[in-house]
Amino acid sequence: MNAAPVLEVDRLVKHFPVTRGVILQRRVGEVQAVDDVSFSIARGETLALVGESGCGKSTTGRLILRLLDPSSGSIRFKGEEIAGLDHGAMRRMRRHMQIIFQDPYASLNPRMTVGEILAEPMAVHGIGTPEDRPGRVRDLLGVVGLLPEHARRYPHQFSGGQRQRIGIARALAVNPDLIVCDEPVSALDVSIQAQVINLLQNLQQRFGLSYLFIAHDLAVVKHISDRVAVMYLGRLVEIADKRTLYATPRHPYTQALLSAIPRPDPNADRTRIILQGDVPSPLNPPTGCRFHTRCPHAVARCSAETPELRELAPGHRVACHLADTLAPTRMGAGGDAARGKFAERLALFEAAKQGMARREPAVAASEGFA
Ligand SMILES: Nc1ncnc2c1ncn2[C@@H]1O[C@H](COP(=O)(O)OP(=O)(O)O)[C@@H](O)[C@H]1O
Ligand code: SF4
Ligand SMILES: [Mg+2]
Repeated sequence: MNAAPVLEVDRLVKHFPVTRGVILQRRVGEVQAVDDVSFSIARGETLALVGESGCGKSTTGRLILRLLDPSSGSIRFKGEEIAGLDHGAMRRMRRHMQIIFQDPYASLNPRMTVGEILAEPMAVHGIGTPEDRPGRVRDLLGVVGLLPEHARRYPHQFSGGQRQRIGIARALAVNPDLIVCDEPVSALDVSIQAQVINLLQNLQQRFGLSYLFIAHDLAVVKHISDRVAVMYLGRLVEIADKRTLYATPRHPYTQALLSAIPRPDPNADRTRIILQGDVPSPLNPPTGCRFHTRCPHAVARCSAETPELRELAPGHRVACHLADTLAPTRMGAGGDAARGKFAERLALFEAAKQGMARREPAVAASEGFA
């Protein structure tokens, strides 16, 4: 892994205006979907972005590709500021950054063959010649574990997992540096999830790709991430390398997400942490720490003052006023952690991954691509 970041996001903000009225639209508020988010991704690195539905993960991913315009903040791609680029310049830039969606079916044109779907981005970005594109399409299909004859078929003739492979092949067609993977396995069966994650890992090693991997589930990203960023109601609450985040989560929300954590006090209730209430609306987020309405540790200061993301140890940043005083929660390798929903999901995923590791042939080699 090279230390130079491919992507640097600094104080990124996206507020969606909410208007009322048909003719005279009045601005009545704003959805604070992404608020003051900063992180970077190195070449060849996978940063997982995790949090409950509606916390702003997809909006963050779309801002990075400039499918949405930020309200404020900076996005640097390989050192170049792209937050203010016009649409033409941004279109050219998109050759280097691609996105894979949760539902590939919705993003694949049902009237185009897979061959046409894969050749289109090459034509748009002027990659190769019309004559050599069929060969490139065949190579791409091999790279993602599909067959040359699949080029003549239509998206509906494939299973969910195969369709996600087509989505991945389409992203790879332009040979990008960064791929935003927006919950690419959330809709798939656990065994298929493991196959797609394995494929993404193989491709990363082979082509030196960087990933922003979005998920609502910490179990899935444990295998693919190098670092993990946890998001709550539009803000990052904790970011750390994977080992640190899973072993000693410091933010009460991360602790709740991991949820099978033994409590610091051995006499306390040792069942999993169940958060009270629902995620509040980003239209009117709680003051101070946005998590204070559900946090089991909240004190008066929490509703008055917004906690900044502070570095507690090198590379481990946490946005909590009490992060220094709350004992870090250790999550054991087995034992207590073997209980609870998280451990269950993880075990299921690991079993699926091991089962398929024995069967999956190495990703087919191909010349002429990359
Ligand atoms: N185009 C939009 N207009 C208004 N609100 C939006 C828009 N897109 C997303 N939102 C809101 O922003 C918040 C974050 O959404 P999203 O980024 O999709 O969350 P996630 O991907 O984490 O589920 C949600 O409250 C969502 O309703
Ligand atoms: S700042 Fe307060 S409310 Fe927020 S996570 Fe820390 S203790 Fe909980
Ligand atoms: Mg989403």
